[in-house]
Amino acid sequence: MTAPASRIVELGPGDDPFTSWCRVWAAAQRADRPDDPPRPAQEHVALGRELAAPGGSRDGVHRAAVADGAVVGALRVIFPLKDNTSLAVLDVAVHPAHRRRGLGSDLLAVGRALATERGRTVLIAEVDEAAPGAPGRTFAERHGWACDLTETRRDLVLPVDEDRLSALEAEAARTSAGYRIVTWRDRTPDPLLEDRALLERRMTTDAPHGDLPVEEEEWDGERIREHERSHVARGRAVLSTGAVTGDGRLVAFTDLQVSLGQPERAHQGGTLVLREHRGRRLGARIKAAVLRDLAARFPEVRRISTYNSESNTPMVAVNEALGFRLAGQLSSWSLRL
Ligand SMILES: CC(C)(COP(=O)(O)OP(=O)(O)OC[C@H]1O[C@@H](n2cnc3c(N)ncnc32)[C@H](O)[C@@H]1OP(=O)(O)O)[C@@H](O)C(=O)NCCC(=O)NCCS
Repeated sequence: MTAPASRIVELGPGDDPFTSWCRVWAAAQRADRPDDPPRPAQEHVALGRELAAPGGSRDGVHRAAVADGAVVGALRVIFPLKDNTSLAVLDVAVHPAHRRRGLGSDLLAVGRALATERGRTVLIAEVDEAAPGAPGRTFAERHGWACDLTETRRDLVLPVDEDRLSALEAEAARTSAGYRIVTWRDRTPDPLLEDRALLERRMTTDAPHGDLPVEEEEWDGERIREHERSHVARGRAVLSTGAVTGDGRLVAFTDLQVSLGQPERAHQGGTLVLREHRGRRLGARIKAAVLRDLAARFPEVRRISTYNSESNTPMVAVNEALGFRLAGQLSSWSLRL
């Protein structure tokens, strides 16, 4: 049987076929990880709107591969605007029933052309590898991309073992007695906003990035607010815990994201302790505190996923101590144009 002719069309989050575009993502995610609920369509729609709105820290475009009138492949290209302006971030997915017919390669070629038009010289993409042999890895290698970073995914099944959690809390509280723990949901308290922006900036230099050609990101209070609005628009609750010094400075934070449409799953966002405040088990303390907050606010969450570079030994040690266990990996790839 010969494959039906396909074409690639432009579309946006307000267009009818965008629903089908989201379904392609859901089908692709289900094929990779049958036990994980795929990202809800609202996530893609809200991100699409954000990328189309003027004045943000990034913009972007969408394309669909259409065969026999049906959307069977999806491409999103994101262009950072405030920093990393030589990069374009590509997401490509092809419906499992339409793979190995060249559609992924066609979408990639279009993404590459769009990036070039915008003067971008480096493409970046991620591949979720639930198990060895993920199609995305072979596909990226086949197209000459370099694997710059591999992060291990670990999952924590909830509820956390109480003995484990309270032992960790007690030890961390002893070694970090001079800090106050604060928690908030969705919106950083105003007095902590500028400190939070500094922490976010440090995330882009201090967390391991392997060989990924990324530069320090420019963060200020307004960009933090943009980021927070984006999570809310995507239907997520973000629970944050921070450590504050005696003179009121936020020096560490951790975020957990809960998708309100499927609240049995949560994802770890960033965690960072400022360099000068490390070595006091603050990382463990804030992670334990956010788990307590999660149990109180969203007792229905059954699993949390987190991604770490294995070179990040302190973070991996905290996660292992909390009971996180291996669940595949996420690889980041780049291609210089
Ligand atoms: C990766 C993905 C987009 C590929 O889509 P596709 O339409 O099947 O890709 P193509 O048909 O253009 O494949 C091009 C080449 O990649 C390689 N390839 C793709 N899938 C492969 C697989 N499952 N096993 C081995 N090689 C594979 C092959 O060399 C293939 O050429 P060939 O079919 O002539 O041997 C698709 O599998 C997918 O949606 N995966 C989930 C999302 C993802 O990982 N995206 C990648 C981000 S870079």
